[in-house]
Amino acid sequence: MQGIIIYKGKYGATQQYAEWLGEELKLSVTPASNIKGEALKKYDFLVIGTSVYIGKLQIESWLRINLSLLEHKKIFFFQVAATPVEQLEKRQAYNTAGIPNELQHNCEYYYFPGKMIRKNLSWKDKFMLKMGAILAKSSAEKKTMLTDYDNVAISHIKDIAAAIENYMHK
Ligand SMILES: Cc1cc2nc3c(=O)[nH]c(=O)nc-3n(C[C@H](O)[C@H](O)[C@H](O)COP(=O)(O)O)c2cc1C
Repeated sequence: MQGIIIYKGKYGATQQYAEWLGEELKLSVTPASNIKGEALKKYDFLVIGTSVYIGKLQIESWLRINLSLLEHKKIFFFQVAATPVEQLEKRQAYNTAGIPNELQHNCEYYYFPGKMIRKNLSWKDKFMLKMGAILAKSSAEKKTMLTDYDNVAISHIKDIAAAIENYMHK
């Protein structure tokens, strides 16, 4: 059974999880920008990772462009974001909005914590964060947006890795 890990992120958090999974499962890893169309045909299953910016999945347009090739494949989908994993409804809403309906039932969903180091951000992303903080409903939310954090850890891949392993040897 053949599978591949495809990801789209901006500052390395999603890439890090994709690489850890690749090492653990001995699967190849590629940024979404390097694979499309017919090249997807030979895979039985896909592991797809994305981060979230202003409520939008980074990988959204790639999913739409390649929809016809993804439609009948098993997908393990992981999402990386700042919203705490405990706020599952908010995390799920990002997927509901960003994953085409035709794919939603093919996916098994996983949610990972992210990281944000302000000095690494583009001026545009810094600006968006500042705007977000101004519009934030609570001071706690405001503080979260303006504070660096790094919650990326290999321990978070345990469940998805076990599920994929199980699927591969079924
Ligand atoms: C400008 C900006 C907007 C963001 N918007 C959201 C958001 O709407 N929801 C959320 O949960 N996290 C949001 N995040 C947090 C990112 O998803 C998080 O930092 C993630 O780890 C980024 O992963 P990446 O480096 O792979 O892109 C935002 C971060 C930035 C810098």
